Amino acid sequence: MSDNQPSPDTILRLINGYWSTGILGAAAAHDLFTHLEAGADSAAQLARRAQISERGAQTLLDGLVSVGLIDLAGGRYRNTAAASQYLVAGRPADLSALARLKLTHMGNLTALPEVVRAGGPVTDAAVEVADNPHWGQVVPAIAAQSVPAAAVAADVLQLERAGEISILDVGGGSGIYSATWLERNPAARATQLDWEPINAIARRLLAERGLADRFTCIDGDFHTTDFGTGTYDIALYSHIAHQEGPEDNIAVFTRLKDALKPGGALLVVDYVVDDDRAGPAFPLLFASEMLLKSKQGGTWRRADYHAWLTKAGFSDVSFHAAPPATLVIAR
Ligand SMILES: C[S@@+](CC[C@H](N)C(=O)[O-])C[C@H]1O[C@@H](n2cnc3c(N)ncnc32)[C@H](O)[C@@H]1O
Repeated sequence: MSDNQPSPDTILRLINGYWSTGILGAAAAHDLFTHLEAGADSAAQLARRAQISERGAQTLLDGLVSVGLIDLAGGRYRNTAAASQYLVAGRPADLSALARLKLTHMGNLTALPEVVRAGGPVTDAAVEVADNPHWGQVVPAIAAQSVPAAAVAADVLQLERAGEISILDVGGGSGIYSATWLERNPAARATQLDWEPINAIARRLLAERGLADRFTCIDGDFHTTDFGTGTYDIALYSHIAHQEGPEDNIAVFTRLKDALKPGGALLVVDYVVDDDRAGPAFPLLFASEMLLKSKQGGTWRRADYHAWLTKAGFSDVSFHAAPPATLVIAR
């Protein structure tokens, strides 16, 4: 190939992108990053500690070097800083469970050509279904994903020094925000609205962290369950706006404005797209997940959130980075 010809390398990597998902999911399944962190630094040592074949261990190591998750220096392997923080068991932001779960979802993508033609889900996989068992698997696995955003939000909203605040978390899932915020502010109380089986998961996780006495759950559908009036200092809607269409988001924001005390803040966390749709990269890709799984969802632009929140009665809207997510704060 002559020098001025483009290389097919990027396209071939994308065509075979499932190799990366598989290697990461398999490495997480065998706790490879945890063993590396504990000092195993060769295929032979990893094979022994993880009780896998040495050929398998070497193949995972080669793949993980290729995707930039582990470094090789002087013949020894070790975690990169990112792998150490986000893929080691027991660390607060450990994403290993999500890597394992996503490996099982890969086959769903074969429906994408048909989903693109139809403009939405072609099976009964849509997330909007009441008490969808999908959430029971997803919610514990995605909790770690929200750890960085919950920490950034606590700082931006200055929750530690906020005293006796009350928080409403709509679609709170694992209760990860409540757990993070109640630990930081011992005078705060949180209420989570979600489906009953999901609330049971959150109650268990909050109890494990010794926070059960300040955590209350309301079971039900957030489209129809009463949020109350003038009750909360902070309302939270994290990774929900992307599964809903514009009208439903405006309706929820309007009801949350009423549920807040005067001066209270609504925090929306989501993968938000720039107004010209040129980036950021992760939210642009995430739109495919919502096409596959929701009837009206998508990755919405900053301008969409601004317009919807203004319509709902908020006057002050600001955006804060928590990559790959964005925090939208409205008062
Ligand atoms: C993507 S998860 C987000 C969980 C959490 N907020 C976070 O950011 O980690 C979506 C959550 O919304 C809940 N949910 C979805 N639709 C709902 C509905 N109509 N009523 C109540 N909860 C709902 C799901 O059960 C799940 O816990």
